[in-house]
Amino acid sequence: MPLIALEQVTRTYQLGATTVRALRGIDLSIDAGEFVALWGPSGSGKSTLCHLMGLVDVPTTGRVQVNGRDAASLSDDLRSEHRNRSVGFIFQQFNLLPVLSAIENVMLPLVIRGEGGAAVRRQAETILGEVGLGDCQHQRPDQLSGGQRQRVAIARALVSAPPVVIADEPTANLDSENAHRIVDLMRTLQSSRGTTFIFATHDQRLMARVSRRIRLQDGVVQEDVRNPDARESVAGEDRNGHGEHRENQRTQSKDAAPKSSVSSSFPVPSVANNPHPSRTTPAVSGPAPEGLRPC
Ligand SMILES: Nc1ncnc2c1ncn2[C@@H]1O[C@H](COP(=O)(O)OP(=O)(O)OP(=O)(O)O)[C@@H](O)[C@H]1O
Ligand SMILES: [Mg+2]
Repeated sequence: MPLIALEQVTRTYQLGATTVRALRGIDLSIDAGEFVALWGPSGSGKSTLCHLMGLVDVPTTGRVQVNGRDAASLSDDLRSEHRNRSVGFIFQQFNLLPVLSAIENVMLPLVIRGEGGAAVRRQAETILGEVGLGDCQHQRPDQLSGGQRQRVAIARALVSAPPVVIADEPTANLDSENAHRIVDLMRTLQSSRGTTFIFATHDQRLMARVSRRIRLQDGVVQEDVRNPDARESVAGEDRNGHGEHRENQRTQSKDAAPKSSVSSSFPVPSVANNPHPSRTTPAVSGPAPEGLRPC
């Protein structure tokens, strides 16, 4: 049985008199251990699909099954509980709790389960170290840069070792070195624990390393390609970024994927596929540039 299965899924939004058909009939199945990118132009339905697969939202029509359970058959409370057990979700806007420190945010999924104490704190410390934030544990989100906040959100999604991690643009705010660190970590978790990863992304650094690419356009799947040569490592690649894609660059376009020396057996999509190249990642409010916040 697939880990995630969608049958004839639609999702519409009502905006006054206007009906927005964000997803228009998706059939998809994702097996345990896959490393999948969802890509496509802005507005094609990537975030909407992530929310449905991540049990954050329910479809207007059709069926979504995650880890053997039909989302529609669950009450809101049971769906939340199923999400907490089965899915690590990294939101496009991070969704960190502003009053909690980095480590408290990371501990939250475990605390919600009723776990706590020193062991949980150690787990959170370890994963914060793995995303490169070992020294930032006690900062609140407004004291962190955009890239640091993104890494806290990633740590929070990984801390409970869920069977599936769904990440909406997880590297959009990261410089090259941190983006590679995160993808390395996810790849390691995929091979050591069999974790399934699904990313909505425009980032070629990530696209080059997935084993499957699903392209959305106008709310339908346009293309579904497997890549047998997905790269496990980034050996030999420039990991420094030369400051070109610094974390927290407020003007960085998520569609302006960085140049990559990566070669792949299937073509890496380009900005030309995006009909809205001027759309940018919403500005990260508040924090000072990365360099001013050594934590
Ligand atoms: N809460 C909402 N209310 C109304 N319309 C929405 C809502 N969320 C998404 N939409 C619409 O649904 C469509 C798909 O949006 P979605 O956010 O899934 O696209 P996306 O592919 O993630 O885009 P991006 O690359 O910009 O993040 C768009 O037309 C969007 O305007
Ligand atoms: Mg989106």
